[in-house]
Amino acid sequence: MERQQLIKLVEQMTIEEKVDQLLQLSADFYSEVAEERTGPMADLGITEEIIDRAGTTLGVSGAKEAIQIQKNYMKKNRLGIPTILMADIIHGFRTIFPIPLAIGSSWDLEVAEQMAEVSAKEAAVSGLHVTFSPMVDLVRDPRWGRVMESTGEDPFLNSRFAEAFVKGYQGADLKEDFFRVASCVKHFAAYGAAIAGRDYNTVNMSERQLRESYLPGYKAALDAGAKLVMTSFNTVDGVPATGNKWLFREVLRKEFEFDGVVISDWGAVKELIPHGVAEDEKEAAELAIKAGVDIEMMTTCYTQYLEELIEEGAVEAELLDEAVLRILTLKNELGLFENPYRGADEALEKRWILSEEHRNAAREIAKKSMVLLKNEAILPLNKRDKVAIVGPGANSKDILGAWSWQGRQEEAVSLSEGAQAISENVLIGAESFDYFTPSQAAIDEALKLAKQADKVVLALGEREWMSGEAASRSDIKLPESQCQLFEQIKEVNPNVIVTLYNGRPLDLTEIDTAKAIVEAWFPGTEGGAALSEILWGQYNPSGRLSMSFPESVGQVPIYYNCDNTGRPFEVTPDEKYVSKYLDVSNYAKYPFGYGLSYSQFSYSDFCLENDELVSGEVIEASVMVENTSDYAGEETVQLYIRDRKAEVVRPIKELKGFKKVKLSPKEKRKVSFMIDEKLLRYVHSNQKFTSDTGVFNIMVGANSRDLLTLSFKLTNR
Ligand code: BGC
Repeated sequence: MERQQLIKLVEQMTIEEKVDQLLQLSADFYSEVAEERTGPMADLGITEEIIDRAGTTLGVSGAKEAIQIQKNYMKKNRLGIPTILMADIIHGFRTIFPIPLAIGSSWDLEVAEQMAEVSAKEAAVSGLHVTFSPMVDLVRDPRWGRVMESTGEDPFLNSRFAEAFVKGYQGADLKEDFFRVASCVKHFAAYGAAIAGRDYNTVNMSERQLRESYLPGYKAALDAGAKLVMTSFNTVDGVPATGNKWLFREVLRKEFEFDGVVISDWGAVKELIPHGVAEDEKEAAELAIKAGVDIEMMTTCYTQYLEELIEEGAVEAELLDEAVLRILTLKNELGLFENPYRGADEALEKRWILSEEHRNAAREIAKKSMVLLKNEAILPLNKRDKVAIVGPGANSKDILGAWSWQGRQEEAVSLSEGAQAISENVLIGAESFDYFTPSQAAIDEALKLAKQADKVVLALGEREWMSGEAASRSDIKLPESQCQLFEQIKEVNPNVIVTLYNGRPLDLTEIDTAKAIVEAWFPGTEGGAALSEILWGQYNPSGRLSMSFPESVGQVPIYYNCDNTGRPFEVTPDEKYVSKYLDVSNYAKYPFGYGLSYSQFSYSDFCLENDELVSGEVIEASVMVENTSDYAGEETVQLYIRDRKAEVVRPIKELKGFKKVKLSPKEKRKVSFMIDEKLLRYVHSNQKFTSDTGVFNIMVGANSRDLLTLSFKLTNR
């Protein structure tokens, strides 16, 4: 359809039809069973008629249901307008991939894109049209349960992942390719900065900080073509995002030139009331529509009051028309006017969902996202080693992670299954081993097996419900019983390798003396197989953290790209009056960018083509990277920059590039980065993104801590 036709269509709609286009209801409202509808209807106080007209739906699961809903919907729509079916496909649909924080640790944009493409395929054949992904909220506080949904603490890395996810979901043309879905980037804006890591809590930061660290991820997703933006639950400079006119009208629409659909988060329009910025639902509707929210998810402030607000002249009718036009435009871009069922296909669903190919993709990505945190020459395991696999994670299939609503634990590969597929020389601990209160019998058996074995793989971690939405924790250590188990096992066999399934950086003090630690995250359907490949060296670990692991929760928020202070600790660490703690260091236990490999890499001959960079020109920075081991492996070469003097205080380092290189044993390769003035820009106090001439440090290395440093000068010559 042409834009003119869409405008005509809007003109033909009654005001009720228009208002209800803006309503999003969950799939329960469309249940074939009347009793299943009545409860939710009563809760929202809406009629069957409204349900029939609601413009979009969320949470439909399966081609059959999707086709039925669309068929019924179209039958009742006098203008032939289809509905859009949306859902949260965050890290896979039925084939579950590692959680986004794990994918962030892969530093591999291709696998991120592939994850999104496979997810889109499975979702699209199941009848879905839009995914509420990616979540690109920058995160610095591991107490916040939703860090598992982010790719981490760095704006540059987050932005690259944001682009990759959007590309993978949407492909080149949604109208042509029905096996892709439209992408909704979220949560605009700065949801990841909830004070004290408590979900839904206030966010308080300067506009400059917002622009510098938090907005780039969303912007990158939009530049990659994301079709929708979701509001966040938090406030931005005191005004809840969902009613924040400045944020949506000025920044998103005007500055970022976004003309796609803005959707509220679940219930967020009505939440303007408890936030204390709206008196009632009517005022909430007024604030949200004026701010530019097109779709109201799961509350009915628009449905109940928008017409009245327009009649009274409090809201201009154009605002409604504009929102409707955007929603119809999305329907058109998805090709729904031509084919309202799009990719929904029961036969393909059977063939594609959880196919061998998709499982393989999930396994590859899981391998790439696991991070070897520690290894005292105990890994990789050898098939000759007798290995005991014990602890709560040994047989657990609770490894999918939050936001895997279509995933089924019974379809996941556990660590014990993965291990048995590789080695016959394994002793597997009790089938059921509680993460918090294990039975004495299970503990005794673990100790018995540990005694008999050469090496022990102790599988520890969190349960799925411990991270994700509304899953903040003040204590980010492993459960006490697991720490005790570690001590007991170590006493009978010191060769302990700890593996971890979890959704956030943890304080790992209690297991610090393990001989090896493998961070496996929530690795998804093929998790246990991937982890086993790493343990037995069939895959050489290549993951690098995209979020710092603190030494203690007291350091949180701790992130590598922090600002310098007037009393920096590094210069005179023994001085009392410098920025430090009395009882813990300033450093992360495992910093951003960190991760080991079975290979060893060395860096040398770091050089700059020129120590002066003239604005508009480019200089090359290069370093020799050598695999000094006998093990082929992959290194992630990282480039950081520091602005030595600027108008505002600059971070002590900022990631500006990275390259993954595969090196054979003893292979040495030159890795280069091109530096230009654009890389040196930052947000000034006038909110403008420009650079200043002067001296910059440039650093390369294996992680944000272990770096070689040079400097150069930016000039305007
Ligand atoms: C979450 C969103 C999600 C939405 C719909 C909300 O509670 O914050 O991230 O997309 O629910 O399921």
